Amino acid sequence: MEPRCQLGHVHVFQAYVMRLKPDHGSSRGSALDRGENRRPIVTLVCSASLAGVVFLTSSAAVEPDNDAWIALGARLFSDRRLSADGNVSCATCHKPEAAYADGLSVAVGIGGHAGTRNAPSLMGVGALSVFNWDGRTHTLEEQVLQPFTTSIEHGLASRDELTQRVTEDPAYRRSFSDLAAVGTREIRSMDIATALAAFVRSLSAESSAFDRYRAGHDPDALTDSAKRGLEVFQGHAGCASCHTVGEAAAATFTDQRFHALGVGLSSVGTRLESILARIEGSPRSIGADDILSDPDIADLGRYLVTRLPEDIGRFRTPSLRNVARTAPYFHDGSVATLETAVDLELYYRRQSDGALTAVSRDEREDLLAFLRALSGL
Ligand code: HEC
Ligand code: HEC
Repeated sequence: MEPRCQLGHVHVFQAYVMRLKPDHGSSRGSALDRGENRRPIVTLVCSASLAGVVFLTSSAAVEPDNDAWIALGARLFSDRRLSADGNVSCATCHKPEAAYADGLSVAVGIGGHAGTRNAPSLMGVGALSVFNWDGRTHTLEEQVLQPFTTSIEHGLASRDELTQRVTEDPAYRRSFSDLAAVGTREIRSMDIATALAAFVRSLSAESSAFDRYRAGHDPDALTDSAKRGLEVFQGHAGCASCHTVGEAAAATFTDQRFHALGVGLSSVGTRLESILARIEGSPRSIGADDILSDPDIADLGRYLVTRLPEDIGRFRTPSLRNVARTAPYFHDGSVATLETAVDLELYYRRQSDGALTAVSRDEREDLLAFLRALSGL
């Protein structure tokens, strides 16, 4: 678990490091990308921040007016006017009542068009540093702007159109000008990103029975079954090697790395060669629009970012916070219930690591009780 100090600074600094260290030629992804060497950098940033050194760009300088930025972000988040047909907001696919997921297999955006991927819950996302199922973005500020201009999400023509729509609204103009970092200057897309990212960071996931047990030291917060489930999860079921629990109070339940379970690959299967040829032959780079509108491309996962054959079908380990509230499951939403998702995971674990001890029926029930205890209030 990364230290929580100055997380916003960490994101900005990581992005900065990534720009400094582009991965020339090898297409392996940087060391940061693979999650290596992250701890020393985070430690460095935290100690530097404590020493009063400021690494900030204007986009992350939200501290003085943080509550005002969050409130503004909340308004932008549910504003359907910021879409091509006036029907789609972030909350269309990240519904507050569904733990900021949407209950659908794959998200449905502008004009009722279905996308290719399951919308993740946004609760606790502020603690992460790689976003989307394929990890194609590395800062929350970058991530929150992306949906506005994809053709299946908000469908706007450009970021200029976004800032224009926001600026046309006198109420937004007033609220932005009240913020010290904006004042009388024009509203920029990065201001919109800052507000939305501040709002998303405020969606904490740490109010579950597990947190009362772990951080609140309340031994009665978990049932005996859930306590046994935690042991199985961290023990012989081998779940915690990817869905990290760690020693820190606030577990993220993800290692933020990429693994191939095989979900979705059967549909790509025999056509893989022609799909890869199509991508390689494409005159332009593959972006969010292609990923969200073409299921064949979407199923390639991490490969889309690194272009390494071994990354075909690898996806970021999802956090399991609120998992009982975010059915259906997996990157393509292909599994309807938590029970089946867990059964599949148990199957995959046995396939990939024959040394694992089998999980009994009772232990499976305990695992489920534990996963249900990860839902917030
Ligand atoms: C049409 C549905 C839809 C809309 C509208 C939408 N999202 Fe998403 N969002 C998704 C899907 C699907 C993903 C995962 C995409 C992927 O992995 O390629 C996602 C991913 C994210 C992530 C990354 C989460 C993670 O776990 O990595 C964030 C943050 C996010 N969206 C915020 C927003 C914000 C802010 C808005 C509004 C500006 C928004 N989304 C609009 C469907 C949507
Ligand atoms: C090797 C790493 C790894 C291990 C070990 C692992 N998982 Fe996962 N888990 C993943 C990845 C990656 C996904 C997403 C795969 C996809 O969508 O294609 C996932 C998805 C899930 C999901 C669906 C979550 C969602 O929001 O869609 C559940 C539930 C889950 N895992 C539970 C478990 C349990 C229980 C165990 C132990 C039996 C376990 N996992 C072990 C990597 C792992």
